[in-house]
Amino acid sequence: MRIVLLGAPGSGKGTQSQLLVKAHGIPQISTGDLLREAVAKGTELGLRAKAAMDSGKLVDDATVLGMIRERLGRPDAAKGFILDGFPRNIAQAEALAALLKELGTPLDAVVLMNLDLGVLFKRLTGRRICQVCGRVFNVYTSPPGAAAHSKECGDAHRLVQRPDDKEEVIGKRLEVYEAQTKPLIKYYEGAGLLRIVDADADVDTVFKSIEHAVRDRTAGGVSPKTLNP
Ligand code: AP5
Repeated sequence: MRIVLLGAPGSGKGTQSQLLVKAHGIPQISTGDLLREAVAKGTELGLRAKAAMDSGKLVDDATVLGMIRERLGRPDAAKGFILDGFPRNIAQAEALAALLKELGTPLDAVVLMNLDLGVLFKRLTGRRICQVCGRVFNVYTSPPGAAAHSKECGDAHRLVQRPDDKEEVIGKRLEVYEAQTKPLIKYYEGAGLLRIVDADADVDTVFKSIEHAVRDRTAGGVSPKTLNP
């Protein structure tokens, strides 16, 4: 399975990627995670990317494309992948198409996670990440309760907020999504790859919708409409 999860910040791409990884045994390739890793390590690439990320803008295409080329070339991506947060604009989509053609591994589907702006805002302001075990929580929808026990932290998670989840940065990220990423919806619709999923449901229901959308696609495709499980 080779898919792109497309959607605004906070639409649930990361959450669903994790479930898809478990279900299909293929890697999640998240440009956001790769960039945050580079920032945390203080690499040259990370230092270059940090200012753009902290202000909610996109990191330059050349940097992101270099990362993707390297990551898709690793052996685990040969059996499939979930692209999370990439591509983010038309130039990146065209570069991806050229790269996948070169590798002989075309996309099966692009799944759009459809969600209202108001819900996105709440999901982003509520997101908290455990600094120790890396689990993602939400103070509104999935606070760390007793069930959130982890091997590393027990019940004592050390929760932090992503710097770009502050209210003043979220507005900019949503603006960038509207201007630069949203045109990909038409682009992939034109390519016959787009599947739209209602992302305003609980995590398991959204997962079922994605599985359904992708199954339909690999079985020959249906029209690009909102699919429910
Ligand atoms: P990136 O890390 O890609 O962030 P994003 O696209 O803004 O997406 P998020 O990670 O914020 O949200 P998500 O959709 O994964 O939602 P999640 O599952 O966590 O990018 C960050 C920055 O890096 C960019 O701004 C840019 O600077 C740079 N960058 C990255 N890629 C780039 C590229 N290709 N080109 C250039 N620059 C790039 O869920 C959010 C919250 O909601 C969580 O708390 C979760 O628990 C909760 N939640 C999830 N699903 C549900 C549900 N169904 N019901 C209730 N709550 C839910």
